[in-house]
Amino acid sequence: MATLDPQMKRALAARVRYYHELGIYDFYKRGSSAPAGEVAIAQLPPIPVIEEDMPRKPKTVAPPPQEAEILATPNPEAGVTDPVAALRIIREDIGDCTRCRLSQQGRKQIVFGVGNPKAELMFIGEAPGADEDQQGEPFVGRAGQLLTNMIKAMGLERSDVYIANIIKCRPPGNRTPERDECDTCSPFLMRQIAAIQPKFIVALGSVAAKTLLAINAPMSEFRGHWYDFRGTQLAVTYHPAFLLRDPRQKKETWKDLQMVMKAMGLPMPSKSVE
Ligand code: URA
Repeated sequence: MATLDPQMKRALAARVRYYHELGIYDFYKRGSSAPAGEVAIAQLPPIPVIEEDMPRKPKTVAPPPQEAEILATPNPEAGVTDPVAALRIIREDIGDCTRCRLSQQGRKQIVFGVGNPKAELMFIGEAPGADEDQQGEPFVGRAGQLLTNMIKAMGLERSDVYIANIIKCRPPGNRTPERDECDTCSPFLMRQIAAIQPKFIVALGSVAAKTLLAINAPMSEFRGHWYDFRGTQLAVTYHPAFLLRDPRQKKETWKDLQMVMKAMGLPMPSKSVE
């Protein structure tokens, strides 16, 4: 099978995100004799360039009826400019959630998110583990201790940033979240991001990166780049739980964090991630 080079992969991912924004989610392969990657890009019509002052054409793709209803119903926090109030409304909207199977599979509580509602920087992990499920706060176990050290190494405190996960309930046995669980839960995270409006996001690990960016790539390709996530700059680094298993990668993580610090204009301390 032909593999795509990273640049091609990013171009394709941008294309997929563009189609998602138009409400197109299903893609079908058309028969072709040319190599897979090249054809996929070459056959696509160009993404229309929309200048700031150019009159915008109405979207021609009608979303499916169920989605149209969702789109027609504004989020209850729409128009609320105070992020504290907006986050409270989102939390209330989640309620004692039973929208996916995880509510029936031993989760104790919903782990919403924690930190500064006006944070410039947001960290996004995968899913709560046992400690987080117990305490109702993301990243409070061993991986959380390491994340706290990473934040401190950047010259920040946990209370300066906002920390959340792709999904809000602990999967049984800490298994990787299923795609449909991410799809059901992540819209609430998107609303949290919209309420907080961070300038920077750090996706921790491949589940966070893949879900947020809709790109299926290995960590080696995700790391070291900035991505535009709905107007917020997004970087990817290793998940702290992975670093606990392979501490040699802390050095690499420190490089990723330094990239973020530089963009944020933070002073470079000599200390790295311990
Ligand atoms: N791992 C995560 O991805 N999130 C947490 O909150 C804890 C561990």
